[in-house]
Amino acid sequence: MKNEEKIDYISVADFSEVLPDIIDWAIRMKNDDRNLDFKPLSGMTIGSIYEKPSTRTRVSFEVGISKLGGNPLTLLSNDIQLGTSETIADTAEVLSRYLDCITYRCFSHSDVVELALNASVPVINALSDMHHPCQAAADLMTIVEHLDDIDGHIAWVGDGNNVLHDLVLASAIMGTNVKFATPKGFEPDKKIIQLAKEIGKERGVSILQSYNPKEVVKDALAIYTDVFVSMGEEHMENKFDSFEGFQVNKELASLADRNYIFMHCLPAHRGEEVTDDVIDSGNSVVFDQAENRMWAQMSILTYLCNYDAWLAYKELL
Ligand code: CP
Ligand code: NVA
Repeated sequence: MKNEEKIDYISVADFSEVLPDIIDWAIRMKNDDRNLDFKPLSGMTIGSIYEKPSTRTRVSFEVGISKLGGNPLTLLSNDIQLGTSETIADTAEVLSRYLDCITYRCFSHSDVVELALNASVPVINALSDMHHPCQAAADLMTIVEHLDDIDGHIAWVGDGNNVLHDLVLASAIMGTNVKFATPKGFEPDKKIIQLAKEIGKERGVSILQSYNPKEVVKDALAIYTDVFVSMGEEHMENKFDSFEGFQVNKELASLADRNYIFMHCLPAHRGEEVTDDVIDSGNSVVFDQAENRMWAQMSILTYLCNYDAWLAYKELL
C-alpha cells in the first residue's frame, strides 16, 4: 500500500527545492567535531538491493547508516526472489513490512520507479541506467567545498549517461552553469536536459550542449568525465570507436581554468576516459567525491526517514 506522505529520491529533480539544504546539512555534519550523540536512524533498518556491483555506494550507505544509529541490510539480487520468482510490486510490499527505507541499484530505471510506487517506505535510487541522484548530491557538495566562486561553468566530457543526467539537474538546482560534450549518437536524454533548463531558468543557469570537448573545457572551473561504457552496456564494444578525442588528458585539461578541479564518479578506467597524470594530479578531487557520497547520503536518509531530527540538527548548528 502506498503511503502518500512518504518521499522518494529517484532523480535529483525530486529534490528541486531542498537539494541546497541537503548539501549544506551534509557539509556541516562532515565538519561537526562536537561529538554529538545524534542517532536519527536508531531502531530503523535500511535495506539496499543491488542488481549490479558497487564499492562506493554499498560501503558509504552501510557505514553512513551505522553512524546514524541505523541497521544496514544489504540484499544482493541473486540472493533474493526479486525478478526471478517474485514481482517488483510484491517485493516492495513485503520489504515495506520490515524496512524503514529501501535503496535500489537496478538496470532499468522503470524498475526503481515501480518499486517506489509500490513501497510504503521511502525509496532511494542507488543508480539506474538513467539516473544516479546520490552521486549528484555528493558531486555538488564537492563543488561547493572546492569552488569558492562558481561564476563560471563546469564541463562534462564523455558519454551522455546516468551520471550526466543528474549532474545537469543538480547543477541547475544549485545555480551552476554546465557545458557538456558527447559524441554524436551518445547525447543525454532530451527530456531530462529540457527539465534541467526549466529548473535552471529561474536561477539564471545556462546549459550548453556540444560535440566538441575543447569548446566545453575552455576556461572550465571543473572537468567531469565517466566511463565510456556503463554497467549493463558491456555488449556495446564498438562504442569506444566513437569516443576518440574525448579522453581527459593533460592537453585537453590545459584549456581549463588554471585552478580547475577534475571530477569522476569512479570507478575510473584509467587510460580510457582519463589519463593518470590528470586523475592523480593536484587538481583531482575524485576521492573527496567518493567520501562525500557518505555525508550526502546521511543527509538524504535523515531527511527521508526522520525529518524532525533532520530539522533539529539544523537548529543545533
Ligand atoms: N560511483 C559509484 O556509484 O561507485 P560504485 O559503483 O562503486 O558504487
Ligand atoms: N555510468 C556508470 C557509473 C558508475 C558509478 C555506470 O552506470 O556504470
